[in-house]
Amino acid sequence: MINIAIDGPVGAGKSSVARECAKRLGIIYVDTGAMYRACALFCIRSGIEIKPENEQKIAELLNDKLDLQIELVDGVQHVIVNGEDVSDKIREHGIGMAASAVSALPAVRAYLLGRQRDIAAHNSVIMDGRDIGTVVLPNADFKIFITARPEVRAKRRYDELKAKGSDITLGEVLVDVNKRDYNDTHRKEAPLVQAEDAILLDTSELDFEQTVSGVTELIEQLGKL
Ligand code: DC
Repeated sequence: MINIAIDGPVGAGKSSVARECAKRLGIIYVDTGAMYRACALFCIRSGIEIKPENEQKIAELLNDKLDLQIELVDGVQHVIVNGEDVSDKIREHGIGMAASAVSALPAVRAYLLGRQRDIAAHNSVIMDGRDIGTVVLPNADFKIFITARPEVRAKRRYDELKAKGSDITLGEVLVDVNKRDYNDTHRKEAPLVQAEDAILLDTSELDFEQTVSGVTELIEQLGKL
């Protein structure tokens, strides 16, 4: 069993790197951002505004009404909300900001923490998020903090959204990236921060293949697979 923690800000490339490394190593990739996105989508659909004053209501909603399932189909994570596969829906632009807001609520973090730890306790995983190395898996076998300059991250997000047909501008994406960085690093509960024992990887100038093979090699060198 091996647990790898990958953290970093939006658009740093952590999910693509984590997904590909997991595939090469034959272990499971767990995207915890998708879980926060699913909670945000559920709040929106239920008509509850995501704000600190509604924390109690949101906690009750999640505990009483949300059936959140994480399923792996051919190594790809699917997020199922009350029987509906919302894996594509949660990638829509507005959901990212809503997920950032919902993730600042301690009750929501507590709701997801147990599930995330449970998955890692029963599987060899590469788990990515904002607090994996610091809070979810503090004893992970290996921790990486992946980042890149905000302009580079905004351009990557912009290209992804464009490819899906969005008419958003690069300037709007950069504003969004900076705002989410601010929210995620300034919240009280489990803020985005590099774990002391995490390796820092800046992918601004790095090629995807170089990054993936470098990270895969480091994990293989642990000799735990
Ligand atoms: O990685 P992502 O963009 O899909 O994450 C969406 C939001 O969820 C992000 O802005 C912060 C939050 N998040 C978090 O607080 N902790 C995690 N482990 C993963 C995501």
